[in-house]
Amino acid sequence: MKLSIAVLPGDGVGPEIVAEGVKVLKAVGSKFGHEFRFSDGMIGAAAYEKIGEALPKATVDLCKASDAVLFGAVGEPRYEVPGLKERPERGYGIIRLRKEMGLFANLRPVKLFPSVISTSHLKPEIVSNVDFIIVRELTGGIYFGEPKELIRSPEGRSAVDSMRYSEEEIRRIVRVGFELARVRRKKLTSVDKFQILKCSDLWREVAIEVAAEYPDIEVEHALVDYCAMSFIQRPADFDVIVTENLFGDILSDEASMLAGSLGMMPSASLAGIPSGGGKLAGLYEPIHGSAPRRTGLNMINPIATILSGAMMLRYSFGLTKEAQAIENTVDQVLKEGYRTYDIMSDGMTKLGTSEMGDMIAKKLAACP
Ligand code: IPM
Ligand code: MG
Repeated sequence: MKLSIAVLPGDGVGPEIVAEGVKVLKAVGSKFGHEFRFSDGMIGAAAYEKIGEALPKATVDLCKASDAVLFGAVGEPRYEVPGLKERPERGYGIIRLRKEMGLFANLRPVKLFPSVISTSHLKPEIVSNVDFIIVRELTGGIYFGEPKELIRSPEGRSAVDSMRYSEEEIRRIVRVGFELARVRRKKLTSVDKFQILKCSDLWREVAIEVAAEYPDIEVEHALVDYCAMSFIQRPADFDVIVTENLFGDILSDEASMLAGSLGMMPSASLAGIPSGGGKLAGLYEPIHGSAPRRTGLNMINPIATILSGAMMLRYSFGLTKEAQAIENTVDQVLKEGYRTYDIMSDGMTKLGTSEMGDMIAKKLAACP
């Protein structure tokens, strides 16, 4: 297959991890006979400093014209000082890019590779069978609702954010959850804050309606606070979790601790229902941020980005065998004892970012 991939390195460690993602995708291309064409686009503080915009139009155009997008990270501490007059737009452009591309479904799988079980902060017996996926709504809710402002007036300061959802926005994301549950263990947890938030009252109503279309799926409606607790108490019970934007943001960082490290967590942001076969517009990124303190040190774990590449092959290109090859190779490299600093333990071999990427690319080329 001939496919075009937009590459957006962004800020901080973004360029370092994206380079390893591209390296591994190239290895897949040569092994399986696909032609991947990579084109770089600017985003984040890096783009703002060069041309005064965090998300230049050229980047949006490039992403829309490509078959998929590989994204690194955005964020620069220089701009994270309250009260600054000039700074890159909210979310350094990534929030608007998701919206402009219609990427409403954010898939965040939480799976612990058995060989790194000891790096989890939780007891091995609690995390040993963790395998769930968070389906986060990505283009609605409090991230986007208007009014949204910080008001400075002589009487004092106040601020407002608005959470807003239409039934259609809820229905389409809940459907993504049910479709995924169908090809997994047939269990769905819909997460809300019922009876406190009006958006959650609507969320639950719609989720119950959609559930009627999927009688084969076991459904549980959980409050977000209870869900946060259950992640630590009984994480292996979950299969598919579907929730709104902000809850999904918070729960997925929490869940990354089950998988050992943020550096192990890939994600896919899609414009439709994933089927594994179709050509779906998508943006693929590690869930971690730009990690400024680790920047330029060749130490950050590139596995989240490399696994995001596997998700791209599966969901945007329908290349299941190739996606599986990346995942199996990551598993193998971990089993052989190779680690980055964040998942390091006694007796293991520590690698830097580019060495980990090289190792995965090399083993992938050699796999049967
Ligand atoms: C994420 C991040 C983003 C979000 C930031 C960088 C805007 O935390 O993808 O989880 O809040 O969605
Ligand atoms: Mg987040």
